[in-house]
Amino acid sequence: MQQITEEQVQNILDMELVLPVIKEAYEDCVEGKIYAGNRIFMPIRGEKNVGQWLVANCTNKPYFGSKFSSVFPGNSKKGLPSTISKISLYSTETGELQALIDANYLTANKTSGSAAIATDLMARKDANKLGIIGSGLQAFSQVLAIQEIRPIEELHVYDINPGRIESFIERIEKIKNRPYKIIAAKTADECVSSSDIICTCTTSHTPVFKGSSVKPGTHINAIGSFTSFMQEIDTETVLKSDKVITEHVEGLWEAAGDILIPFEQGKITKDKVSGTVGEVLTGKITKRENEQEITLYESVGSGVLDIALSIAVYHELVEDVK
Ligand SMILES: NC(=O)c1ccc[n+]([C@@H]2O[C@H](COP(=O)([O-])OP(=O)(O)OC[C@H]3O[C@@H](n4cnc5c(N)ncnc54)[C@H](O)[C@@H]3O)[C@@H](O)[C@H]2O)c1
Repeated sequence: MQQITEEQVQNILDMELVLPVIKEAYEDCVEGKIYAGNRIFMPIRGEKNVGQWLVANCTNKPYFGSKFSSVFPGNSKKGLPSTISKISLYSTETGELQALIDANYLTANKTSGSAAIATDLMARKDANKLGIIGSGLQAFSQVLAIQEIRPIEELHVYDINPGRIESFIERIEKIKNRPYKIIAAKTADECVSSSDIICTCTTSHTPVFKGSSVKPGTHINAIGSFTSFMQEIDTETVLKSDKVITEHVEGLWEAAGDILIPFEQGKITKDKVSGTVGEVLTGKITKRENEQEITLYESVGSGVLDIALSIAVYHELVEDVK
């Protein structure tokens, strides 16, 4: 059994590797070559801290696996990551554990790689102003991925904790792939109204901006909310969205408070959700159809993408399974 550390994962993963793996996983999923099981979700001593298990099984590769994530939002005050993840990869031939992978960086790359593919399909071709709300690991990784698929001219950043914005900007200055302007927004609504592509990457349980701030033609990646009671995106934004796509529709109806809350209030019906990124990729459902549409990628995580990316990491590290 191979133990793979965060450092090893960081040395391997970059967007050149991540984006094709995620794309292939979506295509394989549409063809039934990899599929997810139901998620298990457990509040830990109250609702703020949760444990979550995601599972997936391959029919075209000799692996199945699970990811366990603890999400403890208060951890950032203790200098710890708010999301801590580990992936167990098993053999479909013997059931033996093949690899135990530290998956914090892998999760962030999987999440942002998937958002980048969704953005490439759904955002306007001329979208070049990116707005990021939140300034943690997910926010950083979203910038790394989205700058690869649109030529960014302006990056607008907002966080409820102003002290974090400055250090985030310093970190982005070091990794930006072209000389775009980075602007600290005074409010989340200013960040949203100045941007063509928005990524919300917060631990907030309540909406972080007003739907009235979203301009026609915007694409939104809603990353932070992953439980039925977390709502990062308000109902107006969901109502204004012409297309809503996700990683895994069943997963969305299990865990996406952004969609479940307006659904339970009778404000939307199930057909508000168009389908998956994989279905757009394979032409089963349509991409953006005009410059005015507002598109929403509602991300809740997917065992399929985690397991596909962990197989790629395992193959990169262990020569004899290549
Ligand atoms: N969709 C997915 O697949 C996926 C994957 C991994 C993590 N996540 C989720 O993404 C979220 C962010 O993760 P992270 O690791 O970057 O967390 P983090 O704790 O490192 O960063 C969260 C940031 O959000 C900011 N924030 C909180 N409330 C805010 C508000 N109302 N307005 C603006 N900023 C606010 C905090 O100050 C902090 O900087 C978490 O909820 C996590 O569970 C989703």
